[in-house]
Amino acid sequence: MPVTPLEPRRPWKGKRIVLGVTGGIAAYKAIQVARDLTRLGGEVDVVLTKSAEKFVASLTFEGVTGRPVLTDLFSAKGAALHVRLGRDADVVAVAPATADFLARAAQGRADDLICTTLLATSAPVVICPAMNDKMYAHPQVQDNLDHLQNRLGYQIAGPVTGALAVSEGVGRGRLIEPWQIEEAVGRGLAVDDAFMGKSVLVTAGPTQEPIDPVRYIGNHSSGRMGYAIAQAAWRRGAKVTLVSGPSALDKPFGVDTVAVETAQDMHVAVAERIGDSDLNIFSAAVADFRPTDSRDVKLKRNESADRILVDLTENPDVARDTRANRKKGSVNVGFALETEHLVNNALAKLESKDFDLVVANDANEEGAGFSVRTNRVTFVEKDAQSERLPLMSKDQVAEEILDRARSLIIESQ
Ligand code: CTP
Repeated sequence: MPVTPLEPRRPWKGKRIVLGVTGGIAAYKAIQVARDLTRLGGEVDVVLTKSAEKFVASLTFEGVTGRPVLTDLFSAKGAALHVRLGRDADVVAVAPATADFLARAAQGRADDLICTTLLATSAPVVICPAMNDKMYAHPQVQDNLDHLQNRLGYQIAGPVTGALAVSEGVGRGRLIEPWQIEEAVGRGLAVDDAFMGKSVLVTAGPTQEPIDPVRYIGNHSSGRMGYAIAQAAWRRGAKVTLVSGPSALDKPFGVDTVAVETAQDMHVAVAERIGDSDLNIFSAAVADFRPTDSRDVKLKRNESADRILVDLTENPDVARDTRANRKKGSVNVGFALETEHLVNNALAKLESKDFDLVVANDANEEGAGFSVRTNRVTFVEKDAQSERLPLMSKDQVAEEILDRARSLIIESQ
């Protein structure tokens, strides 16, 4: 799920999005998608097929997008509507995409407005299939998907295994969730050669250091900043691995998420993966110390006197202690949370942990830091240059970080 409430922002803001809806029961989810994409700042033109109109009404889509819904290839809205739609679109998405639609699109048919628009566009195309699991597994459907993906270069998002229509049970064929469709559309809009095919590793969240089987030492990190970065890097076309401490957030869509609990686990997970990674972003709030002897059984109140002492041992520094494993030429970005001497302390971390960029926050500043959805950061780089950014949502900060990382990736090539 996006980290911030829906607001106009990159990469959707100001973009022309054609949303094709075909006739399956999951068409009701497309209403949410059309609404959210509009709130994200997109100009959404919904195209319904004849069979989609049996499941959902064009009036509903007009209500959520504020724009006329298009249904007819030969409408009075002007000749060659498909050519205009295809030419003006920044992305064309079809959700849900039925087996019949996949067959027609794979054949290059031009018998309705959405299929014809696909032939007339050079914009990226995103297809989100949804159907019964037996239909999805059919070799003909798989051949059609293979053709759309590998011959035509369309992005296929989903389906997933889950509950199908009533009485159809559970199987692979379920449409991905609306927020995931919106991310897939975002990827269609944001894909960037500098990130395409690159491996990105992100650490996020807190770590939990056990005192006994039920208690731990932790911190207030929500994981929001790192999750927003991982999702934004995926949208740009990267292959993203997120090594995350415990977090209540949904796993970012399309990202390989590795769940860890302690700093030691995070150290191992990062050390194993960092050698293949082109860009590493260390946003986790790793506990610097852990209880020296974590107990196997719960510490009982009546066993202890009126005070107990927990002895602490230093944890590995995940960013610093994996320096030797880093891929040559990789770009490394760290964070610094400070209460004083922001830029100087950030510069010291830049050097000691061998970062190319440090994203520094002032812990005393309102709207910045752990549990909030916004952040105010200062970028500090090797040449001692620093740039203070205004207060913005963590999703927007993620884009700014990736813009800086993009320049560093290009410089390092
Ligand atoms: N970091 C890490 N492993 C740790 C501690 C920190 O990977 N055990 C990373 C963080 O993810 C961040 C950077 O190092 O990118 C700075 O973290 P911070 O906690 O601010 O710095 P510390 O080195 O712990 O320094 P200090 O406590 O003196 O501020």
